Amino acid sequence: MTGPGVTSPVFVHETGFAREAAFALHAGGRTLSCAMSLVAAPLEELDAGAPGWLAPDEAALLTKRLAAARRQSLLAGRWAAKNALGLLAPGIAARDMCILPGLFGQPVAALPGLSNLQVTLAHAGGAALAVAHPESCPMGVDLERALPEQLGALREQATPRERERAAAALPFDEPQRLLLLWCLKEALSKVLRCGLTVPFNLLEVASLEPLPGGARARFENFAQYEGIAFAAAPFALAVVRPHMAQWQGGDGFASPFVLHDWLASLGQTESAIRSA
Ligand SMILES: CC(C)(COP(=O)(O)OP(=O)(O)OC[C@H]1O[C@@H](n2cnc3c(N)ncnc32)[C@H](O)[C@@H]1OP(=O)(O)O)[C@@H](O)C(=O)NCCC(=O)NCCS
Repeated sequence: MTGPGVTSPVFVHETGFAREAAFALHAGGRTLSCAMSLVAAPLEELDAGAPGWLAPDEAALLTKRLAAARRQSLLAGRWAAKNALGLLAPGIAARDMCILPGLFGQPVAALPGLSNLQVTLAHAGGAALAVAHPESCPMGVDLERALPEQLGALREQATPRERERAAAALPFDEPQRLLLLWCLKEALSKVLRCGLTVPFNLLEVASLEPLPGGARARFENFAQYEGIAFAAAPFALAVVRPHMAQWQGGDGFASPFVLHDWLASLGQTESAIRSA
């Protein structure tokens, strides 16, 4: 893996949204090449394009019994994942990349000739976010679309300390603060592979520092990780990575703030895209 990759698009969409960028993490004198992608498209377009980029084993996941919304999220997630992986492995065709669920539901990427690349992904409606990363650097992402009816549940799932910390540190209204906290914890749960099967307190956010459009967070029980989260109504997202792996833009690599710009653009276009 070298610097920012250039790759042909996984598929050419008419009304969809697609962004992808390479970024670098720096840890102990090493540079770790990573890439991210945020996409959204109507199910009809995803379905029409999928035969050109979906691996046969992935296509087998699309059973007839799958609800339309799940079919859309599965396809959007694979598309985002392959956009990101393609930047790190530009010589490999999207159809030759295969991302199947592991025993805990976690995405496991298989690329011919490459054993050290993995991917983490999340979806919200027809939108999906993916980060491709070296296996040596575990990462997790979350992407959420705010739903007013979920506010009570988000409040219940945040600890009193988290709510106080977020109110003191972040210049957002309560729904956005709660959504950022949720995204950070769900992204951490994906790094850990446990998902939300553990007591929520275990994933508690310990500290929050405001960033333009979002926040940086550390965790009470997992000091080895750091999260970055952004909100741009109606969406929020988070990326959790090892704390020691610093994310700086420059030299053609994207800064984390690119994610906020993407999220804002997605919010402006997604109403036209939602179909499932
Ligand atoms: C991980 C979890 C929080 C994701 O929640 P969600 O509402 O599906 O939300 P998102 O859209 O944010 O994320 C979905 C993606 O997370 C990834 N994912 C699922 N389970 C995961 C896990 N245990 N670890 C890491 N990533 C996981 C998958 O890529 C999935 O997308 P895909 O199914 O299209 O590949 C949730 O599925 C969960 O808690 N799973 C429990 C994990 C478990 O132990 N299951 C037992 C096996 S039956």
